[in-house]
Amino acid sequence: AEVRTYDWKVAYMKWSPDCVENNVIVINGQFPGPEIRAKAGDTIVVNLSNNLKDGEGLVLHWHDGTASVSQCAINPGETFVYKFIVDKAGTYFYHGHYEMQRAAGLYGSLIVDVEDGTKEPFEYEGEINLLLSDWWHKSVHEQEKDLLASPIRWIGEPQSILINGRGQYDCSKTTKSCSLTNKQCERNALTVEPKKSIRVRIASTTSLASLNLVIQSHSMLLVEADGNYLQPKYIDNLDIQSGESYSVIINTSQNPSMNYWVSVSQRGRKPPLPPPALAILNYKPTSVTLMPSSQPPLSPAWDDLLESKNFTSMLLGLELPHPSAIHRPPDRHDRRLFLLNTQTKIDGSVKWSVNNVSLVLPKTPYLGLFKFGLTNGFDATTPSETFPPTYDIMKPPTNPNSKIGSGVYKFKHMEIVDVILQNANMLKENVSEVHPWHLHGHDFWVLGYGEGKFSEEKDEKFLNLNNPRLKNTVSVHPYGWTAIRFVADNPGVWPFHCHIEPHLHMGMGVIFAVAVDKIKQIPDGVLDCGLTAVTPLALAPAP
Ligand code: C2O
Ligand code: CU
Repeated sequence: AEVRTYDWKVAYMKWSPDCVENNVIVINGQFPGPEIRAKAGDTIVVNLSNNLKDGEGLVLHWHDGTASVSQCAINPGETFVYKFIVDKAGTYFYHGHYEMQRAAGLYGSLIVDVEDGTKEPFEYEGEINLLLSDWWHKSVHEQEKDLLASPIRWIGEPQSILINGRGQYDCSKTTKSCSLTNKQCERNALTVEPKKSIRVRIASTTSLASLNLVIQSHSMLLVEADGNYLQPKYIDNLDIQSGESYSVIINTSQNPSMNYWVSVSQRGRKPPLPPPALAILNYKPTSVTLMPSSQPPLSPAWDDLLESKNFTSMLLGLELPHPSAIHRPPDRHDRRLFLLNTQTKIDGSVKWSVNNVSLVLPKTPYLGLFKFGLTNGFDATTPSETFPPTYDIMKPPTNPNSKIGSGVYKFKHMEIVDVILQNANMLKENVSEVHPWHLHGHDFWVLGYGEGKFSEEKDEKFLNLNNPRLKNTVSVHPYGWTAIRFVADNPGVWPFHCHIEPHLHMGMGVIFAVAVDKIKQIPDGVLDCGLTAVTPLALAPAP
């Protein structure tokens, strides 16, 4: 295994992701940030310096499931060293996790190949990497303010969908500086050899959009999700939520003297939506400038919810005895949380809440609060593990008022935890939205999905304990529930939150603290803020 070291400077820069000039967060002058490519077992060291201005903090989060501490933000002018081992091959990404920084462009790919001598459970001869995102012309700082305003000023739909940081906005629709000939927004050409099997890696770091990808004339064999192998399934379109990643294999067996469209559409929200993002699948040696012969292929309709539900329900983990198979979940749980997702109000402002609490993080990272026994730094009361059984999920909340909170669900080391995510109607009648829930620090098994309110009596027997897939992000569909199980084997303090950036900003998350007594070493600089912003010697660890 190797140590791979990167020196990254994070700053704002003028950039035109969709041909419209904007302030974008770049790393070393690049948008999206540099790709990290490693082999399983490698150590990644990133020396990250914050060159943002106006006191804006900085935090990165790595979606590979292992390397994330709850840390103080890195202040402007400061450098912080992230050091972690990528222990599992797969398609991942990293992104900013301070306020809504991800939506300002702070993200990039993290791809981990299997170690030498190890094989993936599928073969491929070439590779394409697609990092998908959505883009607003309004600055993220404005968006953050608008979302917390009373009354709320909702950010609306994105102006563009981006593929590898590029989209093409219709310049006639803006008065801002916009040029379709700008190289920064040039349409991606993905060049492939004919008659080969190609692995297409797809990750979504959207702020809001649920996306769907179609490749003209090519069916896709789905093989990986969030760094875990799947039972291979042929699909002709791929639904992908914010926070998810997938790999599909395509065969470049079409006419090699042509090019083909790759189209990425937003779905699941009411139009008007931005036009699909397009890239060209370019067969060698055909010129990249040759336009595909027909219109771009269409994704399922925006409101074809059944398509999304069927897709998520059919995915299964790779089964034993395949050597790469994931292991089965334990066949019992020690604890089961029921988390009701509702839209609520606090002092007249719209929030998102879980069991009627809207998350506001304390000034001091939880890790420090626990380490030093500073129980005054957050809500000491454990948040509710369930919601009233009489709650009608099909109607807007009868009492829409919730409260803010920073409470923590604590788990013992190796505790087997189930979470039933329960969706419900929003404040407005007849609307319920999809929420992609992402857990830091652990993968979980997706045991099942269902319509309406989860009932142990009728739904328990349908949970899949045999070959569920492992994920770190999962959707809860409108008016439905999703059941997951994980083993709390990674000591630390881990957010579990909706990956929709504005929803998290409005409080849609909870905090899981796993075996805090077992947290080993906390790297230097991680806790230098809030109540723990004193010389380490002055703080004695809690007994
Ligand atoms: Cu990719 Cu906490 O998020
Ligand atoms: Cu959400």
